[in-house]
Amino acid sequence: MPQYFGQLHTTEPAWSILGAVQAIQQDDRHILLKCGNPCLKISILAPNLIRVRMTPTGEFLPRRSWAVAQADEEWSKVPFQVHEKAETIKITTEQLSVVISRNPCRIKCFDSAGQPFAQDADMGMGWRTGTVAGWKRIETDEHFYGFGEPTGLLDQRSQVRTNWTSDALDYGILTDSMYQAIPFFIALRPGLGYGLFFNTTFWSRFDLGAQQPGVWGMETQGSELDYYIIYGPEPAKILQTYTQLTGRMPLPPRWSLGYHQCRWSYESQDIVQKLAHEFRQRQIPCDVIHLDIDYMNGYRVFTWSPKRFANPKELIQNLKEDGFKLATIVDPGVKYEPEADYKVFDEGLKNDYFIRKTNGQLFHGYVWPDKAVFADYLRQEVRDWWGSLLKSLTEVGVAGIWNDMNEPALDDRPFGDPGNKISFPLDAVQGPSDERTTHAETHNVYGLMMAQASYQALAKSRPTERSFFLTRSGFAGIQRWSAVWTGDNQSLWEHLEMSIPMLCNLGLSGIGFVGADIGGFAGNATAELFARWMQLGMLYPLMRAHSALTTAQHEPWTFGDRVEKICREYIQLRYRLLPYIYTLFWEAATTGAPILRPLLYHFPNDPTTFATADQVMLGSSLLAAPIYRPGVEHRAVYLPQGRWYDWWSGEAFTGPTHILAHAPLEKMPLYVRGGSIIPMIPVMQYVDERPIDQMRLRIWKGVGEFTLYEDDGHTFEYKTGAFCTTTYRVYLQGEQTIVEIEAREGEFSPATREIIVELVGVGEQSFIDDGTAHQLKFSI
Ligand code: GLC
Repeated sequence: MPQYFGQLHTTEPAWSILGAVQAIQQDDRHILLKCGNPCLKISILAPNLIRVRMTPTGEFLPRRSWAVAQADEEWSKVPFQVHEKAETIKITTEQLSVVISRNPCRIKCFDSAGQPFAQDADMGMGWRTGTVAGWKRIETDEHFYGFGEPTGLLDQRSQVRTNWTSDALDYGILTDSMYQAIPFFIALRPGLGYGLFFNTTFWSRFDLGAQQPGVWGMETQGSELDYYIIYGPEPAKILQTYTQLTGRMPLPPRWSLGYHQCRWSYESQDIVQKLAHEFRQRQIPCDVIHLDIDYMNGYRVFTWSPKRFANPKELIQNLKEDGFKLATIVDPGVKYEPEADYKVFDEGLKNDYFIRKTNGQLFHGYVWPDKAVFADYLRQEVRDWWGSLLKSLTEVGVAGIWNDMNEPALDDRPFGDPGNKISFPLDAVQGPSDERTTHAETHNVYGLMMAQASYQALAKSRPTERSFFLTRSGFAGIQRWSAVWTGDNQSLWEHLEMSIPMLCNLGLSGIGFVGADIGGFAGNATAELFARWMQLGMLYPLMRAHSALTTAQHEPWTFGDRVEKICREYIQLRYRLLPYIYTLFWEAATTGAPILRPLLYHFPNDPTTFATADQVMLGSSLLAAPIYRPGVEHRAVYLPQGRWYDWWSGEAFTGPTHILAHAPLEKMPLYVRGGSIIPMIPVMQYVDERPIDQMRLRIWKGVGEFTLYEDDGHTFEYKTGAFCTTTYRVYLQGEQTIVEIEAREGEFSPATREIIVELVGVGEQSFIDDGTAHQLKFSI
């Protein structure tokens, strides 16, 4: 993190603070309040969404499109009223009101019941050299979530969160800047939640009451304070609007929901084929193998090692016959290699695609290929060029692009020597001629732009097949282009535990397709740790095991028979749950809902869930309480309001309650809500092994509904209507439980299949699914 940026606690010059409102202008979307030179602009974009901008100079910045997918003028106009009084100006929409006091100019929001939120603290808004800031009150019982992938706790109250993408190697619970910089959070208290998106790509920081209890602050090195307030009150509603603003994930290929195996490195064609063979022989389902940096020729991006991967096309073809897909790592550092016939370097240099210092010299740092230069993805022509280079991978059949080191991560001297991590010079010029700016403004979006380049290139070059993308770094909106993993974690119990709040907060930041390296990247997992990690990993939206160079192997069979069996069973359970999980991906793609969720997502009025960071929900039905300490076979589990059933034994519980779960190594405590309907399919060795000829609807007594989503799983035709949904319902009628299956809706026709309806603990009935409505009765 650059040391020279203003810290909240240092002896900086005093803040200038926004003064009194002197004049007001209004049109059908905006209210402009002039406070001398400084101006405050409030834009009403939706009944629950307002944008607040404050400029000390009276000049608003040009709009940047990196994170915001829907510009002000693209929101349909909504009615609002403005009431001017002697002391205040009140703006009212259907869902909230904003009250602006005139002297000094401060804003407060209220919900329709008159409860305040996002109220300016005494200081309101201010500025000093190169920095703008805003301060607001922390309400009693208010808690803070999101912020990308903060380590440590789920609730970030009293913490400081810096938004500056960093190579967070060796991160731990005290690490602040992470790979992802997502300046967005959800503030929650019983009965009221709102989201806040700080629209700045410059270095920025939230202080959630660390400096001054009861006040949270936001500060950025930009010249304008620009933020959006999103009223909920529930997290689901906040995320729906936030992802309308910053975009939603497209549906990934269904095979990418299968199990991924990765290692730094499976370093030859032979080793990869043996690995694939091992999975099939041991009947452990797997869909994707990842190649780390050693597939390249001397770490030259977009090359293949002629010795170790002499015939990648043949390798990929062989893997395909066994149902595997291949993903390859792509690093942004391009080997600095003049006059060596290295096309990527030569073309980039010739066309001036690499980042330069202000004196015009090429900027270089040191990464895997030693001295390296870096493309300026901020320019469309550079993104197009980079995208065209991906052909060296996709033309031989690579199906997944794994973008790494894109914070960007680089050293000031050759890797291996004890060096210093550096960033590009902050004054390096980046961007297209009409949007020129410096690295200070674009640092946080470097990974985002690299991911965008990859996504858009493949959407163009492979227009009928979905591809898989993974990135380490990103900014708000990264969900539009890529899945995200939490970088270089460690084979430690603490990291297994920490993956839960990290992935939950990513989900609460609008990023649904997320995972942590199962088994831990750095270090050697013990057999017990690996087994427990695989159990939790079964729930990660991205289920990938990975391990670092020189560590012990981390494949499911390397820890002995007992752990191999556990891995097989949990990976199989993942595959059996695929229709349920794929439907959650669809929900994420259409509403912005997380796939993996903290309990508070579904129980936002239950304060016990606010700090529950060691339990997690997969969708609205499944609740897991993983074991994350060695030698532990029992743990406390909190079951919120409602009826719950033990997944394994069927035992019923009535929440809210705390129970003690028994969890020998073979078992991760898993619960299902009463009234849940979970579609399950027979185990496959890979996701698209064969058409689904049988689906079991597991139904737990109660009242509930589930809408199953289906499409072909691999093309973009779902975008033009080639998908179908089926709604299932369960309820009680007298002594009977009724299960209703509505007629299938939509253009897509799944293969003919048998549907087995199992009312758990009661019995089962079956029928052949022809898409028509059915009603089944179970007598209890
Ligand atoms: C980075 C990545 C890690 C990868 C390694 C080598 O540390 O985070 O996943 O294995 O580089 O490419």
